[in-house]
Order: sequence, then structure tokens, then C-alpha cells
Amino acid sequence: MSESKKDYFKNGTSVPVHVGVIMDGNGRWAKKRGMPRKYGHREGAKTFRAITRYAKEMGIKYITFYAFSTENWQRPADEVKSIMDLFEKYLDEVRDFVDENIRVRFIGDRSKLNPRLQDKMHRVEEDSKDFDSMTLILAINYGGRDEITHAVKEIAKSVESGQLSPEDITQELIQSRLYTGGIPDVDLIIRPSGEQRLSNFLIWQSAYAEYYFTNILWPDFSKKDLENAVLAYSERNRRFGGV
Ligand code: IPE
Ligand code: IPE
Ligand code: MG
Repeated sequence: MSESKKDYFKNGTSVPVHVGVIMDGNGRWAKKRGMPRKYGHREGAKTFRAITRYAKEMGIKYITFYAFSTENWQRPADEVKSIMDLFEKYLDEVRDFVDENIRVRFIGDRSKLNPRLQDKMHRVEEDSKDFDSMTLILAINYGGRDEITHAVKEIAKSVESGQLSPEDITQELIQSRLYTGGIPDVDLIIRPSGEQRLSNFLIWQSAYAEYYFTNILWPDFSKKDLENAVLAYSERNRRFGGV
């Protein structure tokens, strides 16, 4: 890992441990070309695969991609269907990552997804659980508020059953009950497409994240853009409330 890092960054560059990516701008990318939105999603999925590989080469240990939000169900049914079909197709291809020693995890409420998709998600997680070159996290039917609500319900059940008392509820406990339990907080959030908002992505985990915004639309996002984001991150002075 440190070998390949040298190819990209000069000594002293601080590479974020956990990068979050809001894959935005697929629809506008397609519209600019007079194509249907689903064509943009297809191109965006290709970018996702390429960027995953570059992230590993750069020495990033965790990368989370926001693929479908709890709010995205509001889109027209045919667009939702084409995105879900793409997931299924790409889950078969995500298997290639398993061969590259990449661990795959999913965050979000999967109970609303097609059972066949859920089954594939479960299998790829199981098959890759011992891999450690990088962890790839896919946020599907994910919403930060939904995640916190889910964690609170779980904790309330534990209190109700007497396993926990209210005094046991600490930040660490809440964190461990999130979908991202065991994954470190996100260090850098990248959002392409010109929008400058979180849109319900990792709202607990991003309390001290750095942000990188660019006008590039996701299907055009390149290795160079990822490098630029990491270099910008490396220049930041993170204080975490200290001096
Ligand atoms: C992001 O691209 C992909 C998903 C939200 C699934 P968009 O579909 O939001 O693209 P724009 O923002 O309309 O261009
Ligand atoms: C955020 O993008 C969700 C994903 C990229 C999956 P949206 O396009 O849904 O966000 P808004 O609607 O612009 O805030
Ligand atoms: Mg969008």
C-alpha cells in the first residue's frame, strides 16, 4: 500500500482514512447529451468502479459511496427501477473487487429492497469479510436520519429488555449501533455536480469531516479529481475544537 501511495503523493501528504462520495450529477450529465437519465446512471456506475480502484491505489482505507437515498424513492418509478436494475448488475461485478482483497459492506435499510438483491448483498459481504486492503461501503436506501432513528429504536429495545440502562447510552454506544458500526468517522466528503449540501449523507459521522465540492458531474469525475480532493484535504488544518 505505501509503495503505491508514493506513486501518487509526495511525502507528507496526509491521505484521508475514510472518504465519502456523493455520486451526484448523473441526470444532468445525460440531459446535456439529450439522453434519458438512466443513461447517466449507467455511466455513473462505471465511474464508481474506476474510482474504487484508484482509491485503493492511493492508500484510502475506507470509501463510502452514496448510491441511493431514502428520499430517492420520490423519483419516477421507471427511474427508480433502472437504478435498482443497475445495482443488481453491478453487484455481480462488485464480486471482482472481492478478488482484489477489498471488503464490501452496505449501509442503509435493505428491508425495502428486492429480496434477490438483498441476498446478493449478503453474499458479497460474507465472502469479503476477511479482506483488508480497503473497505468499500455502498449506501443504498440510506438516509442519515433513518440510520439514527433505527439506532435509537434498537437501543430503546435493549433498555426495555433490561440489557442496558439509560446511563449506558454514550456517544460510543450510539455510534456502534449505526449502520457504520466499526467503521471510523468520515474524514473527507466529496460532492461533485456543483451542489453544496449533505442531502442526509452520514450526518452523524461527518461532524468533523472536511468537504470538497466540484462542478464536475459524477460520470466525468476522474482519477485526477480524486487526487485533487485528497491534496486539498491534506492542506486543511483540522482542529477538532482544539487550538
Ligand atoms: C445521482 O445523480 C444519482 C442518484 C441520486 C441515484 P442524480 O440522478 O441526482 O443526477 P442529477 O442531480 O439529477 O443531475
Ligand atoms: C444525493 O443526491 C443522493 C445520492 C447521490 C444518492 P440527490 O440528487 O438525491 O440530492 P438532492 O436532491 O440534490 O439534495
Ligand atoms: Mg442529484
